[in-house]
Amino acid sequence: MNNNYALITGASQGLGKYLALDLAQRNYHILLVALPNENLETLALEIKKLHVKVEFFETDLTKKENILALVDWANSFSVEVLINNAGCGGSKYINEASFDYMDTIIQLNVRATSLITKLLIPNLTKQPKSYILNISSMAAFSPIGFKTVYPASKKFIEYFSQGLQEELKSQNVTVSVVYPGPMKTNAEVSNRIEKQSKFVNSGVVALKDVAKISLDGLFQGKNRIIPGKLNKFSRYILAILPLKTKVKLLSKAVKKEIDATK
Ligand SMILES: NC(=O)c1ccc[n+]([C@@H]2O[C@H](COP(=O)([O-])OP(=O)(O)OC[C@H]3O[C@@H](n4cnc5c(N)ncnc54)[C@H](OP(=O)(O)O)[C@@H]3O)[C@@H](O)[C@H]2O)c1
Repeated sequence: MNNNYALITGASQGLGKYLALDLAQRNYHILLVALPNENLETLALEIKKLHVKVEFFETDLTKKENILALVDWANSFSVEVLINNAGCGGSKYINEASFDYMDTIIQLNVRATSLITKLLIPNLTKQPKSYILNISSMAAFSPIGFKTVYPASKKFIEYFSQGLQEELKSQNVTVSVVYPGPMKTNAEVSNRIEKQSKFVNSGVVALKDVAKISLDGLFQGKNRIIPGKLNKFSRYILAILPLKTKVKLLSKAVKKEIDATK
């Protein structure tokens, strides 16, 4: 039994829940973090059945004081694995996106991810070997109109993670970044994915598989992880397409999806 903990943000549902269950099966004790009143207690009971210890912390990570309180709490445990999974996004005409909608994406995806990591590094580096997994997205591979801030936030996660990989390698910390394609996590996201093309829908990988591929990659020391063969192929195509072409194509697809819901 490993006596160390894995901390997962955004663990109440979607990918975060599957990452937590998979880590418990790998014998890590688990620290679950999500917004209040989202059934973390029920998930904690489910994970306890796997014979590991589980604690949970309910908070809104878009607030600075909550990030500080979370880190204070987490520092009472030996954290060996940090997973920055909490994230949000969406598709909207920028003129219809509210200040709060855009601000929440930036606060959660950019600020919470980078500051939680920064503040937990002293704890992580107390362990002989430790791991950070940051969740980016295939959306990081191109700017996309009508999503604008989300792909930019996921590109931030990529650059932040790659810089950290270099900086922390001498301290025995593995930093991996995973780029999931479409995942049917909650009703709203599933609905959005179903409105996309057949090609996009055939890139959907089951949450359990994304969690396993991501954690296998992390523990094997892979710096970049793209779950799913079709997503790997799309990544290749996006790398060779001229910027203007890919921005135009992807933005057109997202606009179609928004207009279909009007
Ligand atoms: N779904 C996709 O197609 C897709 C594709 C590529 C990348 N991703 C990325 O994968 C990650 C997980 O996505 P998902 O679709 O599994 O998400 P999800 O089902 O919407 O779950 C998001 C998690 O983050 C938590 N969360 C949201 N706002 C929070 C806040 N302000 N403070 C604390 N926790 C908060 C949620 O907690 P509550 O349950 O308490 O609200 C939930 O546990 C995200 O980083 C996302 O950007 C998703």
